[in-house]
Amino acid sequence: MSANEERSFIAVKPDGVERGLVGEILRRFEARGFKILALQLIHPSKELLSEHYEDLANKPFFPKLLAYMQSGPVAAFVIQGKGAVKIGRAMLGATNPQDSAPGTIRADFALDIGKNVCHGSDSVESAEREIALWFGDSLKPYARAVDTVIYE
Ligand code: TYD
Repeated sequence: MSANEERSFIAVKPDGVERGLVGEILRRFEARGFKILALQLIHPSKELLSEHYEDLANKPFFPKLLAYMQSGPVAAFVIQGKGAVKIGRAMLGATNPQDSAPGTIRADFALDIGKNVCHGSDSVESAEREIALWFGDSLKPYARAVDTVIYE
C-alpha cells in the first residue's frame, strides 16, 4: 500500500448523527483531500461495539460508552489518503472536547467526553482492524482524477 493509500476508519457517533453533523464532518475530510472509500449508516450491535472497543473493556465508562454508541445510528466511513490516520485524529481533536484545539471537530461541536461526536482510528493497524470489522471486505478501490491535483 503506497503512502497515498493509507486508510482510516472514521465514525460520526449517534449524537453527531442526531445533531445533523454528518455532512459537515464528511465535508471537512473531503475538503482536506481525502478520498471517501466507504460510507454507511449502521446500527451497531453490542457484539460489534465490544470488539471495536475491546481495549477498553475493563474501563469503568465501558457500559455507558456501549449504551451511547447504541443510542442511534452511526455514520461510518473510510477515508483514504496520505497521513489518513494521523491527520484524521488531528482533525477530530483530543478525546475530551474540553481539551480539543479550536478548529477541530470536537472543539467546534462538542463539550463532553461522553458525547464527543466522532471516532477516528489511532494507528494504521487499528484502522485496518476497524475497517474489516465495520465493512468486511466490501471496499473497492477507485481512481480519482483530482488526485493528480492534490498530490505533488
Ligand atoms: P479512547 O479510545 O480512549 O479515545 P478516542 O475515541 O479519542 O480514541 O476512548 C473511546 C471513547 O470512550 C472516547 O471517544 C469517549 C469515551 N470515553 C469516555 O466516555 N470517558 C473517558 O474517560 C474516556 C477516556 C473515553
